[in-house]
Amino acid sequence: MTKVLSAVAWPYANGPRHLGHVAGFAVPSDVFSRYMRMAGHDVLMVSGSDEHGTPILVLADKEGVTARELVDKNHAIIAGELADLGCSYDLYTRTTTANHYAVAQELFTQVWKNGYMVERTTKGAISPSTGRTLPDRYIEGTCPICGYPEARGDQCDNCGNQLEPEDLKNPRSKINGETPEFIETQHFFLDLPALAEALREWLEGREASGTWRPNVIKFSLNILDDIKPRAMTRDIDWGIPVPLDGWRDQPTKRLYVWFDAVVGYLSASVEWARRLGEPERWREWWNDPEALSYYFMGKDNITFHSQIWPAELLGYAGKGSRGGEPGEFGVLNLPTEVVSSEYLTMEGKQFSTSRGYVIYIRDVLDRYGPDAIRYYICAAGPENQDANFTWAEFVQRNNSELVAGWGNLVNRTASMIAKSFGEIPQPGVLEPVDEAIRSTVLAAFDTVGGLLARQRIKAAVAEAMRTVGEVNKYVTDTEPFKLKGEEQRERLATVLHTLAQCVSDLNTMLSPFLPSSSNAVHATFGGDGQFMPMPRLETVTGLDADDADRSYPVILGEYSTTPRWESRPVRVGATVNKPTPIFQKLDPTVVDDELARLRDDLAGDGEG
Ligand code: MF3
Ligand code: ZN
Repeated sequence: MTKVLSAVAWPYANGPRHLGHVAGFAVPSDVFSRYMRMAGHDVLMVSGSDEHGTPILVLADKEGVTARELVDKNHAIIAGELADLGCSYDLYTRTTTANHYAVAQELFTQVWKNGYMVERTTKGAISPSTGRTLPDRYIEGTCPICGYPEARGDQCDNCGNQLEPEDLKNPRSKINGETPEFIETQHFFLDLPALAEALREWLEGREASGTWRPNVIKFSLNILDDIKPRAMTRDIDWGIPVPLDGWRDQPTKRLYVWFDAVVGYLSASVEWARRLGEPERWREWWNDPEALSYYFMGKDNITFHSQIWPAELLGYAGKGSRGGEPGEFGVLNLPTEVVSSEYLTMEGKQFSTSRGYVIYIRDVLDRYGPDAIRYYICAAGPENQDANFTWAEFVQRNNSELVAGWGNLVNRTASMIAKSFGEIPQPGVLEPVDEAIRSTVLAAFDTVGGLLARQRIKAAVAEAMRTVGEVNKYVTDTEPFKLKGEEQRERLATVLHTLAQCVSDLNTMLSPFLPSSSNAVHATFGGDGQFMPMPRLETVTGLDADDADRSYPVILGEYSTTPRWESRPVRVGATVNKPTPIFQKLDPTVVDDELARLRDDLAGDGEG
């Protein structure tokens, strides 16, 4: 039994999640984690809301609330969405906990002690009219890389590059339009060049494993070539204080949001163990070199997971050219795999929250339930190349694959059994056609499982659905609906028993993709209890003195009853009643309705 850390990118707490967000990492990581549990591994799946950073502050200013109020609201919204989507986190927490602050500060301190966090004088902006520090978020200008005229001091939203305010061409203050003055200011830089050799050694080892997606390993090795020190503190008043004397109490110096966000994987593991009452348990996933770790994200996050986070870990362990030694957390594992997806567009265009060109996951959940969209994302998501979501394809896949393929097989199998026997019948002797379909289905455990273990979710679901098609063909070939009378009753029992067994096995295989409906299918065939454990949203309080008075929702779960990835014999005599359809056929008007909503949103945005 291998320890598997499933590390899922932390959503920014800047608003509800849209389809693009969950397609990139939430659903794929959940499918993988569920499969790995079924395959017998000891999975720890963690994530949380990423609550610091400039965009959060900009938004809070705009909404006239404090950053804290804004993230409290959005964290609760996002946690609710991810739980309803069925994402089976062991812990989905947030970066504003005292636990996270302490873990992030411990990482920073040891990296600094080991000599990989170097203080440098850089240019910081001040407002010439007031003489006060102008935080990065208030500086706007032209991107030096792509020429976009409205790049922010910390990042260009057009090309996605991380920037320093002094890099901007024609910088201006967003407060009053004046040109900021750049004066000398101190910051800490992560000395990436001193860690480059260790990073390269690690990445080349990963390349040799041949398991990373080609785009991801290529990109990661490429960016090593012009590696530079990178600022890990910012002129900002929202974030984690810099844990050093002379810095701790400076109100406008904070850790860079990306420095702390990636530490979340570790701090959430620690928090999970503390909440369990076994505060050292997290070490099994982090200190044991045999443990595996998989990080799921969209492609704009690769740099942070294949360079910044590993560099923090190497610096913490003292494994760069300056040497050093690990702090209290010991030597921490580097990522086994950085699993990055590509982008999702919608009806051919980029999602844009600000322009209202967006599909909120909450709306999709409310209208169509979790599994229709999970299925779409698995079957047609941006796994290895950019993908385009259309409502027409959503309706078409739902109706012809989920409903007419899998739903129909479940439905007619249960209906025929209910009508003829009312329970799963005892089979007679299997004929070659029965043996053949049984071996087809059994073989799919290996093919689908092999694909899932390599995060090839699209190919895995296609293979499972192809097998569904084979079983539907078995129904056509054996024509159980024509088997009438006493003399054919045993043959009918054999075919229906075979079908019930195939449906049970397919339900097992589809359960990582479609967890909620796998429970419904299980119940339809007289199964007891819950088949696939589901996450739960629970209100907790902070674990430390500093946040013991805060209560907020987190996602937790108890997944030890996860079924094994194997065929389990159906129980002869299990009651099967006339089924109610599990998957809902969607009327084609859904397409027009949804497109009209998009246009409404756009019009609404224009009006103010
Ligand atoms: N908040 C980032 C985003 O949405 C992802 C952060 S992943 C982390 O792109 F683990 F680093 F937090
Ligand atoms: Zn740019």
